Amino acid sequence: MNLSEFTHQFTELFSSHPRIFRAPGRVNLIGEHTDYNDGFVLPAAIAFSTYVAITPRPDRKLVIHSNEFREHFEFDLENFPARRMGAWCDYVLGVADVVGRQGFTLRGANILIHGEVPIGSGLSSSAAIEVAAALALLSLSATELPLPEIAQLCRRAENTFVGAQVGIMDQFVACLGKSAHAMLLDCRSLEFKLTPIPPHLSFVVCNTMVKHDHAASGYNVRRCESEEAVRFFSKHYPDVRALRDVSPEMLARHAKELTPTIFKRSTHVVQENLRTVEAARSLANNDLSRMKSLMHESHESLRDLYEVSCRELDIMVDCAQDLPGFCGGRMTGGGFGGCTINLVRTENAAEFASQIAERFRRATGIAPSVYVCSAEDGAREVF
Ligand code: GLA
Repeated sequence: MNLSEFTHQFTELFSSHPRIFRAPGRVNLIGEHTDYNDGFVLPAAIAFSTYVAITPRPDRKLVIHSNEFREHFEFDLENFPARRMGAWCDYVLGVADVVGRQGFTLRGANILIHGEVPIGSGLSSSAAIEVAAALALLSLSATELPLPEIAQLCRRAENTFVGAQVGIMDQFVACLGKSAHAMLLDCRSLEFKLTPIPPHLSFVVCNTMVKHDHAASGYNVRRCESEEAVRFFSKHYPDVRALRDVSPEMLARHAKELTPTIFKRSTHVVQENLRTVEAARSLANNDLSRMKSLMHESHESLRDLYEVSCRELDIMVDCAQDLPGFCGGRMTGGGFGGCTINLVRTENAAEFASQIAERFRRATGIAPSVYVCSAEDGAREVF
């Protein structure tokens, strides 16, 4: 990202000198579809980021431009849209809406956005734009909120305004991720532990180029199925508030009383939570062979039990298996398309990237994008 060019662009558009805020995309190493079940996740922020440049306006308008999309939007803060417009500006509007509802001052603003996180690919471009926009909008009202609160505010925007019933993982790691570390996050208490990533490992992120949209895909359906499971278990065990509270023994005891679909979904979540906590331990102990097995089990469970993988993701996972330096891989993010995450020895990463791209292209006819990256810091103002 060339910051001086971005600043220059902003100055040309709005004749004023902006403050600029950045928030990153993320990969999730393991712990998929566990966050909205109050469970555990192990994500890391990555270098792909969204940048939001902002200056205040004397009137009550929000004027939003983007580098990636041609159309620009103007809104009157006194006459705010009540629901999503179905456009990229929804993420900014949603955040502005929640900022206002929570009683913080919203000022008119000029905004320019530059996004590097591939959209709809499971790397959480939505959380990146939400968090960068929240930091930018709040800076105009001189409000300093702790980062965990910013993460919650952004998640609320996505749930209520955009209409995707996502959990807290993406916004949280976009705010609080740390370079060279993954984050074991307890999505109930929001306590987290940073887990060092062995220094000889890189992330190789492989984009199947199959796009998803959480607000429209099976994501919200999975969420409802989890709630149905919780309603069942809480009748038998009043302390159960989320699938997080269901043990493998409880699940086995009631297997026959659940529909096959609800049984499969619950089994994934219960086992994925156990895998995630163990994976953080394995990574910290540099036990890469255990990490590899856990990532593989996670992918199979997402494919067969939670049913959120797709043909292209499964092929991408298969393509990685015997490549030199491969230390574990799986689909990452909500699924229905998007990316796989692979842990690869850094010395092999470039060769791995070119070989997996070639194998995938031969198997599917699709030319994938493959990115070699590492864990980076979370959101902040850039100068
Ligand atoms: C998306 C959501 C997250 C999480 C993952 C699945 O990325 O935004 O909250 O639920 O899917 O683990």
